[in-house]
Formats: sequence, structure tokens, C-alpha cells
Amino acid sequence: MLLDAQQPGALQDYLRRRGWLDTNETITDIEKPGEGNMNYTLRIRTATRTLIVKQSREYVEKYPSIPAPANRAVTEGKFYRKMRNVPMLAERMPLLFGMDEEHNVLILQDLGDASDYTFLYQPCRMLSEDDARLLADYLTDLHAQFLSDGPNPDFANREMRTLNHEHIFHYPFLLDNGFDLNTVQPGLQTLAAPYKGDAELKRTARKLGELYLSDGRTLLHGDYYPGSWLQTSTGTKVIDPEFCFYGPAEFDLGVMMAHLMMAEQPPTILNAVLTAYKGPAGFDDILRQRFTGIEIMRRLIGLAQLPLSLSLDKKRDLLDEAHSLLH
Ligand SMILES: Nc1ncnc2c1ncn2[C@@H]1O[C@H](COP(=O)(O)OP(=O)(O)OP(=O)(O)O)[C@@H](O)[C@H]1O
Ligand SMILES: [Mg+2]
Repeated sequence: MLLDAQQPGALQDYLRRRGWLDTNETITDIEKPGEGNMNYTLRIRTATRTLIVKQSREYVEKYPSIPAPANRAVTEGKFYRKMRNVPMLAERMPLLFGMDEEHNVLILQDLGDASDYTFLYQPCRMLSEDDARLLADYLTDLHAQFLSDGPNPDFANREMRTLNHEHIFHYPFLLDNGFDLNTVQPGLQTLAAPYKGDAELKRTARKLGELYLSDGRTLLHGDYYPGSWLQTSTGTKVIDPEFCFYGPAEFDLGVMMAHLMMAEQPPTILNAVLTAYKGPAGFDDILRQRFTGIEIMRRLIGLAQLPLSLSLDKKRDLLDEAHSLLH
């Protein structure tokens, strides 16, 4: 069963049948709440309230020819459920009102007309120090709350990890992956070539990739970057934990730092995050730096490109810096 905004009657029946709309509650409007690639996400409006409905399908919504694990919304729902007992995390995320595990549908609290933080990639846009600390505190709390002694099947998220693994640790470093980086920015292919031919770098990427795939002790958000942060009238919120898994805490913080660097945030902001974040016992900042390095590289020379406004020279500097973080 695929939800369809063009079939409001069927959608209304479905939501009523599941008890997510009252029997006499009528949909007055359906809209797209914001930009997303992976899933089918709608804002449903009735006379008295709005709801966010998110469905994952067996393909990437924006590119239906690309397969993706169909039940990722269920993993995301289980993450939201787990947050319920921890007020400081729950209040930073939308509430989960309902989940249909058969059809991979989530009903989420609407956080309102919010913009995500991808505006940070535009020139001269800065994260505030308060937001930097708040986003670091969220990770501190998340990484402290859900330590596990053994594999947790609810959050194995194997297929999503396999998908991500390919695009973070493998594909960007293939000499002939068929993706012409000059279509992103003329000259980028030449800039990337030495890294794609660097055997030691590939070895490091492979080792980091193995760590990413192995089961760790800490529940991670798994996609902690500006697209998963929302600026709302009730403060900064975190969404979209569909890539969550038990893994190394260093991964979440590493990814966050990589994006702040690509968004050219000043040292005060980078330091505010590093100072505020308190990792679990044994947290290894060298490993965090390696994940930062690999995330910068894969975003600059891999397939999952960002809306960056960086010159080729700036990308050269960032790749250089990323490479040095990987040693
Ligand atoms: N609970 C919510 N309240 C308000 N807006 C939301 C909510 N959830 C999602 N949105 C809006 O919808 C957009 C897409 O949502 P989300 O990131 O969850 O979808 P996605 O398909 O998983 O995206 P991506 O392809 O980036 O992973 C968000 O950027 C945001 O603008
Ligand atoms: Mg997503």
C-alpha cells in the first residue's frame, strides 16, 4: 500500500482506520513539508491540527530506480520510541504518534514550518554558539543513554548501513566509478585523482568501513548533519534517524564536525562543539578525526554531493586537511 497525496480520500480512510484521525475528522489540505530525497513525506492538515506522515518504500523516493531498504521507517520509528523515556532527548525531536510496521508508515508531530540547517553551506552563514552547544549536547546525551552489551536486532539496520558503507568508504575512492566529478565542478575530477589512487588512504577507508559495519556499544543517530537539524519556533530539533545503529560514538561527532568544516564555520564554533561534547568512556578523538576526514572526502569526491558554494581552491584545501586527519 503506497500513500498518495493525489488520493486524499484513500489517505483519509487509511488514517481513520488506524485511529490517527477521528472518524469525523476531514483532511483539508496536504502539502510537502520540506525537501527530502529518501522517503515520501507529507503534512496532513485538518480543521484542528496538522500531522507529518512519512512512508519509506523499497526505493529512493527521488530516484525510484535506486533500491533502498523498505522498512527503514520502522527502524526510525523504533528510535523515536526509545527516546520517549529520556525527556532531554525526546524534547529535541518530534513525538511519534503512531507507526504502521506493515506499510512502513510513521505519524509524527509536526514541528511547524521549519527550515533545516543546510543554509549553513551558503557563504557567511554561521551556526550560533548556543546551537553548536545544543547540538553537541544532544549527541552527548544520546551516546550516554543507550549503551548496549550485545547486538540489538532492532537497530542492526544492516541494509541501510551497507548502503551507506558503499557511499562513504568505498565508491568515492574507486578510480573508475563512472561518476564524472567535472559535472559537479570543472576541475574536480583532477583534484580527486590523487586520492583515488592512494593505496594507503584506501586501506584506511577500508578499516574505518569495517568499524562502521561492526556492532558497537553506543546508539548513534547515524546521519548527524545539517539536513537532520531543524530550526523551529520551539528551538532547534533533530529529525530523520533512519540510519541509526549501535556503533562507534566517534562516527556521529566525526560527521557533524566534517559538515561544520565544509560549511566554513569559524574555529569558535568548531571548538564550542568539541568542548561541549562529552563522549562515552574510551572515546577516541583520533578516530573521530578519521571519520571527519572520510566524511569530508566522500562528500567532496563521492556521489552524495551537498549544496556547497566552495571554490575549487577551497575544496583543495579541505581535501588536504581531510587527508591529514586520516593519518
Ligand atoms: N516532524 C516534522 N515537522 C516539520 N517538518 C518536518 C518534519 N519531518 C520532516 N519535516 C520536513 O520534511 C523534510 C524531509 O523530511 P526527512 O528529512 O525526514 O525526509 P527524508 O526523505 O528522510 O529526507 P532525506 O532524503 O534528506 O533523508 C525535512 O527537511 C523537513 O523540512
Ligand atoms: Mg532521511
